[in-house]
Amino acid sequence: MKRTLISEAKRNEPVRIQGFVEHIRNTRNMAFLVLRDRSGSLQATIEKSTHPEWNALLETLTAESVVSVEGTVLENPAVKLGARELISTAIEIESLAAPLPLSKNANIDTRLDYRWIDLRGEKERLLFEVQTCLVQAMREFLLERNFLEIHTPKLIAAASESGADVFEVGYFDRKAYLAQSPQFYKQMAMAAGFERIFETGPVFRAEKSYTNRHTTEFTGFDLEFSYIESFHDVMHLEAEMLTFALARVQARYGEEVERLYGAKVIVPKLPYPEIALPELYRELERRYGYHLPQSERGDTTTEAEQLSYRFSMEEFGHEFLLITDFAAEKRAFYHMRKDGVPQGYDLVWRGVEITTGAQREHRYDVLCAQANERGLGEDVKFYTEFFRYGCPPHGGFGLGVDRLTMLLLGTGIKEAMFLFRGPNRLTP
Ligand code: 4AD
Ligand code: MG
Repeated sequence: MKRTLISEAKRNEPVRIQGFVEHIRNTRNMAFLVLRDRSGSLQATIEKSTHPEWNALLETLTAESVVSVEGTVLENPAVKLGARELISTAIEIESLAAPLPLSKNANIDTRLDYRWIDLRGEKERLLFEVQTCLVQAMREFLLERNFLEIHTPKLIAAASESGADVFEVGYFDRKAYLAQSPQFYKQMAMAAGFERIFETGPVFRAEKSYTNRHTTEFTGFDLEFSYIESFHDVMHLEAEMLTFALARVQARYGEEVERLYGAKVIVPKLPYPEIALPELYRELERRYGYHLPQSERGDTTTEAEQLSYRFSMEEFGHEFLLITDFAAEKRAFYHMRKDGVPQGYDLVWRGVEITTGAQREHRYDVLCAQANERGLGEDVKFYTEFFRYGCPPHGGFGLGVDRLTMLLLGTGIKEAMFLFRGPNRLTP
């Protein structure tokens, strides 16, 4: 008999259900199994007097084993789980589970050791349903606007961006590096005349950070597009895309997210509020007494990001805040500058940076000068070459998918990833 999903099992019809055994109650005359597949749970009821041959099997059966059960689904108001039960006519153990190494309230590190068991929970499953929905909506939004999806190499010959925080790997008889961002190749696509591209893929950062928002390998959602007038075009596209994607998540999963995570999915209003960094520091000091020496005000700090959430809610009633006017020495060399001010932004959601974006410097001479300022001239020569043979003005951003998921559901980054990678974690 072919398998039927639990959610699709019709009443009074013979079905074959396959899944994990979530719970076992084995009494003298009856046995009850709660079966779980990707679509839901169902009680299988076994009349032991009719099937004495199953006694041995039921004695050995353990929680989280995988079984196949045939029978007929009947209505039964006495059954708590959906008021229906599978009256079993055949049962087979596909895989017997050893005693579980993981309890319900294990800490996150133990959970990660046994992530494949941890992920069996409905709460964990929901996270990936939400993430799938979110990324799919963003992809749809861009495809509708004629963006191409590209896939750039992660093995590269020279350290990208700043040269710091890159993993070095052996590459036959020489060294290679893992890409810190698809930045350079996104821009190569602009020089190739693609005009509009995006990519979602792995990003590597050799940072020894032990926070709840840093990981050494994450999923980036990056895009780049040409013929922009300023970085405001980039900010606006991102805001529109996020509002579209969050509206989709709210419609499909809003209730479930609230039930399992106690988090409200709020669809952010357009346009998102903007503030220049020097102005933000003045406001944080005036309102909350947050003082930072002038010399450190060129970049955000963790505390400033956190406080900016409070500020944004109080001032604009908005969870998102676009911060502009960072100091040139704190930003990547390829950001375009106007009167010395980088033409870019950070997007902060609920007090955490989720994006850095900018208009890029597409003028070859200016770009080379900015790279040389940082002593990067030779390292990025392959990249500056992209701009020698004609390149449209362009800009784009990099958005962290794991951070987006984590902030949406109110978890830490370890729970928001299929498998977290950190300075002390390379397994499973
Ligand atoms: O801000 P970042 O470093 O910017 C870039 O990579 C630029 N090339 C983007 C651009 O187009 N100008 O990284 C982009 C985003 C961050 O805002 C954050 O959401 C995420 O990637 N991110 C991390 N997520 C988890 N762990 C880390 N260690 C992260 N580092 C950055
Ligand atoms: Mg950044």
